[in-house]
Amino acid sequence: MSDWTRACAVADLPSGLCKVVDVEGVAMLVVNVDGGFHCIEDVCTHDGGELAGGALCGFEIECPRHGARFDVRTGAALCPPAYQPTAVFPIKIEDGQVWVRDDRWD
Ligand code: FES
Repeated sequence: MSDWTRACAVADLPSGLCKVVDVEGVAMLVVNVDGGFHCIEDVCTHDGGELAGGALCGFEIECPRHGARFDVRTGAALCPPAYQPTAVFPIKIEDGQVWVRDDRWD
């Protein structure tokens, strides 16, 4: 099983903000929506754009390149030009810290 990587302190990521974390070469986007933390791959499935820097509206993040939107809870693509989901990753909160890991190869 892959190891957990510390992403940030809970206190350092207020609601409505995102943070990119490099986990062994994988760019993960940690998102706080109303105190709930979610983690998706920082890759748009339309053309590989970074989702970081895109507008976050509720549970939806918009790719800044061509406007595809993804659900940060499930990674689902919500509108064209993206049709495939982006990856989502396990996340946990312990002792005021946010932890993530890449479970795709477990
Ligand atoms: S790269 Fe994200 S919508 Fe095109």
